[in-house]
Amino acid sequence: MNKIKMLYEGKGKKLYSTEEKDILIAEFKDDLTAFNAEKKGSENGKGDLNCKISSFLFELLEKNDIKTHFIKQIDSKNILCKEVKIIPIEVVTRNVATGSLTKRLGILDGKVLPFPLVEFYYKDDALGDPLINDEHCKILGITENIQELEFLRSQARKINTILKKFFDDRNLRLIDFKLEFGKDAQGNIVLADEISPDSCRFWDKNTNEKLDKDRFRQDLGSVKLAYEEVLKRILS
Ligand code: TMP
Ligand code: ASP
Repeated sequence: MNKIKMLYEGKGKKLYSTEEKDILIAEFKDDLTAFNAEKKGSENGKGDLNCKISSFLFELLEKNDIKTHFIKQIDSKNILCKEVKIIPIEVVTRNVATGSLTKRLGILDGKVLPFPLVEFYYKDDALGDPLINDEHCKILGITENIQELEFLRSQARKINTILKKFFDDRNLRLIDFKLEFGKDAQGNIVLADEISPDSCRFWDKNTNEKLDKDRFRQDLGSVKLAYEEVLKRILS
């Protein structure tokens, strides 16, 4: 399968059409952005690491009956995936309070939440991806019905259960993560985008060292080393 035409360039990936209808190639970029791309950087090899990590985790989820856009990894930074129409909601699941949650609600950083919190953010860079609820989704016409939102929530919870256990066994705390879903050609809602240290927070179970994009956001250094450590533990 070959890249025919670039259809879209996002902050972390480029999407290309292929000879086959409804099948795309996603290329993982080395670029790093934060705070709605106000902060920009690049880390040589980051694309390869995220491609490997994301491919592994999509395969893990598929084995656990979660439908995804993922077909297969084709080389170090490219995957084959089904074409989907992305639902413009960033589904964030949190096990531990940190990041924007602590800022918004004044919850202590590092507080373990009594249950996994699932939040929806409207995927719109111009608006700064604002937090929205079900009624906002209805008013904006983002989804066809409330059942679709319930489905996104239940998928996020299932995925959290699978990933939290997987990472816990590898000495990593899954603090929070962002998912995106899309509709395939048959109208099925499937998990899309990526799952990587760009879109998740991982803290070491013993030291709480941050092993994710917060190292870039907060200028902590050793960004690539942290992503390599996550991959090493995933493969262990
Ligand atoms: P937040 O605490 O900044 O709201 O982030 C919650 C989670 O979502 C965290 O794992 C990082 C991830 N995330 C993205 O993947 N993309 C984004 O644009 C933002 C703001 C967060
Ligand atoms: N991905 C977002 C951006 O580039 C924000 C973030 O992940 O912090 O701006």
